[in-house]
Amino acid sequence: MELLVLGGTAFLGREIARTALARGHRVTCAARGSSAPPDGAAFVRVDRDEEDGLAPLAGRRWDGVIDVARQPGHVRRAVRDVGADHRVLVSSGNAYADFSSIEQSEDAATLPPLEADTMASDEDYGAAKVACEQAVLAAGPAAVVRSGLIAGPGDWSGRTGYWPWRLAHPVGPEVVVPDELDFPCAMVDVRDLAVWIVDLAERQVEGVFNATGPTTDLGSVLDVAARVAGSAATPRRVPVERLRELGIGHWMGPASLPLWIDDPKWRGFATLDTRRARAEGLVTRPLEDTLADTLAWEETRTEPRRCGLTDDEERRVLAAL
Ligand SMILES: NC(=O)c1ccc[n+]([C@@H]2O[C@H](COP(=O)([O-])OP(=O)(O)OC[C@H]3O[C@@H](n4cnc5c(N)ncnc54)[C@H](OP(=O)(O)O)[C@@H]3O)[C@@H](O)[C@H]2O)c1
Repeated sequence: MELLVLGGTAFLGREIARTALARGHRVTCAARGSSAPPDGAAFVRVDRDEEDGLAPLAGRRWDGVIDVARQPGHVRRAVRDVGADHRVLVSSGNAYADFSSIEQSEDAATLPPLEADTMASDEDYGAAKVACEQAVLAAGPAAVVRSGLIAGPGDWSGRTGYWPWRLAHPVGPEVVVPDELDFPCAMVDVRDLAVWIVDLAERQVEGVFNATGPTTDLGSVLDVAARVAGSAATPRRVPVERLRELGIGHWMGPASLPLWIDDPKWRGFATLDTRRARAEGLVTRPLEDTLADTLAWEETRTEPRRCGLTDDEERRVLAAL
């Protein structure tokens, strides 16, 4: 197949391009060029912020287009300017309107779509994804993949690597963890998601699908993380109020404890009902494999992790308890 990956040079998009190449497809990646596509892919430089930014792709028709865009304008212009027999849009569980219950199905209410072409801030992310979904679904045969947290080697956010890394490198006998160990967790390995997305493109599957791994909880993730790290450190459970007092955040960002959200309204956020995707062929590897490979990648990482506690922050919290 002739496949176009709009993106294709970063975390998931690059893995999709790599997977498609390995399956014998001809792959073109289109992006601004801040990083390189995988070897073997053709590259076309485009700037989707520009009204005519996709002009370098004009006049071609693709068997499949896979798009990882976040900005509605990027997707609206792509369906207008890039000819395709089938499209896959990588969307997000953030599209849903409410996260208070776990494992929402694809039929749950979504946010109102963002009318603007561009998000004013990250607060618009979910609504922007809904607008992207609507543009793709209105354009012809398409699959929309509402992904949960994407895990695995290359997770620049550090959300999936932090716990195995911290447990592998404790600053003492204890590791700071939130007290809420029953917080629902789920994640999908980037490699499994990529294989399935390419499969959807190959079979020109249509529909809207949630995609993530099985629901577990933070305590179980920490157990697996400790196992793959070979760690003897003891989790030191810190009450939520104390974490707040100490200025420790949740989910991601500096001085945060990932995979947990300090807000009951977001308790179901990480989990999704994935029965439809599994019936359509999504297969996810054991969490143990994902965390072991992510730890190996974290050990080679050169840029700073964008979540978790630094050693100094970890010591400060432990000293304050
Ligand atoms: N990470 C998660 O846990 C998570 C969870 C749920 C859903 N998702 C979704 O999963 C996808 C992640 O994909 P990814 O890892 O490949 O995305 P990414 O890291 O956001 O990369 C975006 C890609 O688009 C290109 N791009 C960005 N702005 C562009 C522009 N103005 N013009 C042309 N190209 C542009 C980038 O290359 P250049 O910068 O070189 O242009 C890059 O190839 C996204 O759709 C995200 O919303 C992520």
